[in-house]
Order: sequence, then C-alpha cells, then structure tokens
Amino acid sequence: MRLIVTGGAGFIGSAVVRMAVSRGHDVLTVDALTYAACLDNLAPLEGAPNHAFLQADIRDPAAMARAMAGHRPDAVIHLAAESHVDRSIDAPSNFIDTNVQGTFILLEAAREWWDGQGCPETFRFLHVSTDEVFGSLGPGGMFTETTPYDPRSPYSASKAASDHLVRAWFHTYGLPVLIGNCSNNYGPYQFPEKLIPVVILNALAGREIPVYGEGANVRDWLYVEDHADALLCILENGRIGRSYNVGGENEARNIDLVRRICAILDQLRPMPAPHADRITFVADRPGHDARYAIDPSRIREELGWRPSLTLEQGLERTVRWYLDNDSWWRALLGRDGVGRRLGRGR
Ligand SMILES: NC(=O)c1ccc[n+]([C@@H]2O[C@H](COP(=O)([O-])OP(=O)(O)OC[C@H]3O[C@@H](n4cnc5c(N)ncnc54)[C@H](O)[C@@H]3O)[C@@H](O)[C@H]2O)c1
Repeated sequence: MRLIVTGGAGFIGSAVVRMAVSRGHDVLTVDALTYAACLDNLAPLEGAPNHAFLQADIRDPAAMARAMAGHRPDAVIHLAAESHVDRSIDAPSNFIDTNVQGTFILLEAAREWWDGQGCPETFRFLHVSTDEVFGSLGPGGMFTETTPYDPRSPYSASKAASDHLVRAWFHTYGLPVLIGNCSNNYGPYQFPEKLIPVVILNALAGREIPVYGEGANVRDWLYVEDHADALLCILENGRIGRSYNVGGENEARNIDLVRRICAILDQLRPMPAPHADRITFVADRPGHDARYAIDPSRIREELGWRPSLTLEQGLERTVRWYLDNDSWWRALLGRDGVGRRLGRGR
C-alpha cells in the first residue's frame, strides 16, 4: 500500500512507519518536527527505497494537498498531535489548533484527493485516538466502543473533537474512515517527558522518582510495537466507519508500575540502595483521571488481533532499550520539559 503517516517522527508514529516499511508498504512520513519529534526515530530506515520524509504541518492545507498529489496514497494513518496531557493544561490552544483544526484540514485534503480519484472504496483514513476520550472509570468496568465520550482534560477533549470530525466525514461525505482508541503506550523511542522513560532516566541519574498523589491511578499499558501492529491490522481488515479499542489487558497502578521498573533496574543497573528508595510522592495533577481500562473484545473477535507481550516482558525490553541507547535520549535532555512532572501515567 502507498501510505501517508502523519506524526511519523514521534513515538508511536515512528513505530508504525518502521513496521509498515519493513512489511513492504511505500510510506511518506509527514511531520512538522515539533519539540516531541526526533528524526533519529527513523534512522533505522535510512536508505530504504520505500520510505520518504516530508517536513510539513497538518494545519497547512496547501502542503497537505501537495503531499496527497505527490505520494498518491491508498491510505492515510493520522497520528500527528499534541499528545502530552500536562502541556494541554498549561497551553490548551496548541491542542485545539493541531488536534482539532489540523485534523479538519487533513480530512479535507484526504477527501479532495479521494474525490479526485473517483471515491475508491478501497481508500482508508485511519485516525489514531486515545482511550482518554471516554473519561475516567471507577474501580470496575471497562471502556467499550459504545462507551459515551466524557473527556476531562484539554488533551482528551481535543482528541474527542477530532474523533467526532472523522466520524462526521464518514457519515456526511462517505470518506472510508477507521478509528483506533488505544490505551497508554510505552516502549523504545518514547520522549522523556512521559512516565516510563522519566522513571528510567531519573533512576539512572540517581535523582528522586516523583509520583503523583499516592500513585493509585490505574492505566492499561500496551507495548508500542503491539499498537503499531494493531493499527496495521485495523487498516487492512477493519470495517469502514468503525472504531476499535486497542489495549494490552495489562492494568497497573502507577506506583506498582514504577516499582516494577525499579526492580528491573536493580537487576540490570544496580545501585548501592534499591532504586525504589528514591520514589517520592508529589502533589497530584488537577483532574487526574482515576482509571482507564480497555475492553478489546471487538478487535480480538472481529480482527483476531491480540498483544504479543505481557507488561513484564515489555517493561524489561523497554528498560534494556534505554540502557543500550543512551545516545538517543542524551541528545534530547536539553529540550524543554524533559524530566519534569511525573506520575500522571502518560
Ligand atoms: N502515547 C500514548 O500513550 C497514546 C495512546 C493512545 C493514543 N495516542 C495518540 O497517538 C498519536 C501519537 O502519539 P505519540 O505518543 O506518538 O505522540 P508524540 O508527541 O510522540 O508524537 C507526535 C508527533 O506529531 C508531530 N506533530 C505535532 N503537531 C504537528 C503538526 N501540526 N503537523 C505535523 N506534525 C505534527 C510531532 O512533531 C511528533 O512527531 C497521537 O495522536 C496521540 O493522541 C497516544
């Protein structure tokens, strides 16, 4: 397939691009290269004849039209977004601009391209969204695809708005769309402002490992390559107009997750005292959702997809990757926001 992947220099986008290219798809990565992007994430593809990179902003209609006409995609996988909840609390307007307005502009560019080709039924617009659109759960229950939207942060509200736009373009214009709503991702190449890389890097530096509140917030964790695999599965086999919840069936409280990472580091990079001794509880974030949990029955039963790794396996792989790739994260340490404000679970 000829694919355009937006946000492909970010954490999940680059995993999707690396996997799609390795499976023989012809990929154009489109990314504005914001603070969260890293071209090194695509370094393994250097010289690949079936990959090209375009620095462009999804909010630029002319650039998106040129990308469509130039690459002639069979499908667009849309991951470009502002993705960090805490940044959305500090500066919500960027989230509305990119996640809502940007998705609108990309949808229009895709629709015009698709229209100009005679509206092929085989075209796909796969929108990558989050379980956070569903709000917060109590101790029981799980999010299904029919759970009402109830976003609570500027980030999740902007993602919910973008999901609504994508569905509207399906119902109104017939654009063949698909949506994936995924739980928390972790793994290699995650920008060190998110919980897991910050825990690893703070522990390695011998710094405090702050955790929000009492660390009781529960998240459902999915290894990033399993998410990339799920997205390609949805793209190839999903039913048009449908959304699919993607989860790892790996629920953990933040504090337990942090302790597991510390235990892995105690084995791989021991210090005189256990790493967990430096866990510090700090004031909670406003509006911190208590629990997310994904019911992945639809993607499992309809598409036969399931995650390949347990949380234990994925965490060990992730910690080893950060230990083996210090030149990747050291190059990012000077960027704004790196290493600050932990424990939100994303
Ligand atoms: N990280 C998670 O746990 C998670 C879970 C579920 C869904 N998602 C969704 O997956 C997608 C990717 O998340 P991520 O964690 O890889 O994010 P990320 O912040 O690592 O990457 C986002 C990428 O989008 C690019 N980008 C931002 N604004 C852009 C613009 N205006 N034009 C073009 N490119 C732009 C950035 O440069 C960056 O490379 C997002 O849509 C996010 O909402 C993330």
